This record gives sequence, structure tokens and C-alpha cells, in this order.
Amino acid sequence: MAAPAMITRPIPSSGEAMPVVGLGTSQVFDVGEGAASRQPLTEVLRLMLDAGGKIIDTSPMYGRAEAVTGDLVAEAGARPRVFLATKVWTSGREAGIAQMRRSAELLRSPVIDLIQVHNLLDWRTQLATLRQMKEKGQVRYIGITHYTTGSLPELAGILQSEPGIDFVQCAYSLGTRAAETALLPIAAAHKVAVIVNRPFEDGDMFRRVRGRAVPEWAAEFDCISWAQFFLKYIIAEPAVTCAIPATSNPVHMADDLKAGSGRLPDAKQREQIRELWDSL
Ligand SMILES: NC(=O)c1ccc[n+]([C@@H]2O[C@H](COP(=O)([O-])OP(=O)(O)OC[C@H]3O[C@@H](n4cnc5c(N)ncnc54)[C@H](OP(=O)(O)O)[C@@H]3O)[C@@H](O)[C@H]2O)c1
Repeated sequence: MAAPAMITRPIPSSGEAMPVVGLGTSQVFDVGEGAASRQPLTEVLRLMLDAGGKIIDTSPMYGRAEAVTGDLVAEAGARPRVFLATKVWTSGREAGIAQMRRSAELLRSPVIDLIQVHNLLDWRTQLATLRQMKEKGQVRYIGITHYTTGSLPELAGILQSEPGIDFVQCAYSLGTRAAETALLPIAAAHKVAVIVNRPFEDGDMFRRVRGRAVPEWAAEFDCISWAQFFLKYIIAEPAVTCAIPATSNPVHMADDLKAGSGRLPDAKQREQIRELWDSL
């Protein structure tokens, strides 16, 4: 039987459909050329595409991850089916332009779908360049990212003062919910797509539930694992466009992707989820 279709959300600035579960590459795609490390990643990519997933998020900050992403996407002949998101992470206009050119080479993609200012580094300069690149058709969407709770007011302030930003990427998880009030309503009001990073707090959240079964009532929203429990909580938030869990393990990728289909928890069930987490 075919897997149920993945839920999508429209990117507010264009209406283009974005599947709600994608893939992060920090650490997990920073590998060498050997088959032992690359073969599982090839499988992770295949599973994501077969399930209807699209977005792969990378950065020049992630060591070899951009190059590995470029290689694997090319080997799979998958460029038309993926949404490539990378970042600019440097100071100065010329350095930013040079870094983005290098990303395009490594990703083997003259036009990148989304480039984000990584951790807001020199964001005024890089955003000005990104706006020009978007006008020239060198990038399809532009955005800003960070991962700390302390950065949420600055991310929100930029969305409020700078027009034309398509995406904001921030940390949001059942464990760290500050974005729910500090950023998501502002992104929704300004029609900015939201990419959620660190949905499992870099894997730490699994330690808190080790040895515990997922509650029976999770079946009411088609959830059978802790990864799906954590991801469905995030995806159920209407301001969220997609989440990008990182993994190099095909079994984990298959698990994460299942969070993108079936029923999502309603407001009452989300309250129940928060109560359970906070009681652990
Ligand atoms: N400033 C920024 O822009 C910024 C900052 C942080 C992150 N990010 C982006 O967001 C992505 C995700 O964040 P993250 O890498 O920090 O961590 P994360 O997605 O919160 O957690 C990744 C960890 O979860 C484990 N995992 C994944 N699926 C699992 C499953 N089904 N069951 C059990 N364990 C599972 C992975 O281990 P296995 O490999 O063993 O599966 C990995 O150790 C990054 O890769 C990056 O693309 C961006």
C-alpha cells in the first residue's frame, strides 16, 4: 500500500507547496567519500524523496555537508525534486558573494532555492546582497536564521522592519517553546515561512523519554514513536511551514517522515502533550 501523502504548507510569499518534514545536514552530512558513511545518507535522501519530502538545509558552516549534499543529489538525479536551502555565514559583501558562489558550485546548482543569513552574521550587508541576487534570479527565496532563544526578539524585529524576507529559521521544540509567543505570531502576521531547526534539541530530547512508551492516546493523532510525537507537536502549529530533523540513519529518517502525514494533534491534544513533557 502506498504511504499516505505528506502534508504541505504554502510558502506565504509565493504559494508554492512545501512538505512539512525535510532534512537537516549539520554534523550528519559532514562525512568523507567512503561508501560506509555515504551509503546510509543516499538511503536517507531516497526515503525523504519517496515520502514526498523536499527541503534539505545545509550551510558553509557544516564542514563537508554542502559538498556531500551536492554529490548525493546529483547521483540520485534528484535536483528537480529537492528544495535546496543553504546559508551565508561570513562578514563583508565580497566575502558573502564569494561564499555563495562556492555554495552554488558545491551544491551543483546555479540557482539555489533558499539562502539564509546564518545566525544573523553581518545580516544587513548579506540581506542587501541577497535582495539583489533574488532580483537577478540567482536565488529563489531569501531568509534569516538563528537557533538560540535569546535571538528570537532580533529575528522578530527584522521581520517587522525589513520587507521581502521569505523565510525565517529558528529553534522550536516541545522542549524549547519560546518561539510560540516570541516569533511564530510575528512570522504569520508578516507572511513569512517558518523553518524549524533543532526539533529534537540535537537529539537530547530522546534521553528524557528513554525507557518510556509513547502514551496510548498518541494513536489518536497517528503517532507511534517519540520522534513523531515531538515532530507532530511542532507541525501542528499553523505558523510552521516545515521542520528539518537531522539524521544519518535511514530507520530514523523513515520514522521522522511518518510525522508528516496522518492526523495532527488539535489544541487540546497539544495541551496534553505539553503537560506530559513538563511532568517528565
Ligand atoms: N543557526 C541555524 O541556522 C541552525 C542551528 C541549528 C540547526 N540548524 C539546522 O537544523 C537541523 C536540525 O537541527 P540539529 O541537527 O541541531 O538537531 P535535531 O534535528 O534536533 O536532532 C538531530 C539528532 O536527533 C537524532 N534523531 C533524528 N531522528 C531520530 C529518530 N527518529 N529517533 C531517534 N533519534 C533521532 C539524530 O541522530 P541519528 O543521526 O542517529 O538519527 C541526531 O543526533 C540542522 O541539521 C541544521 O540543518 C540550523
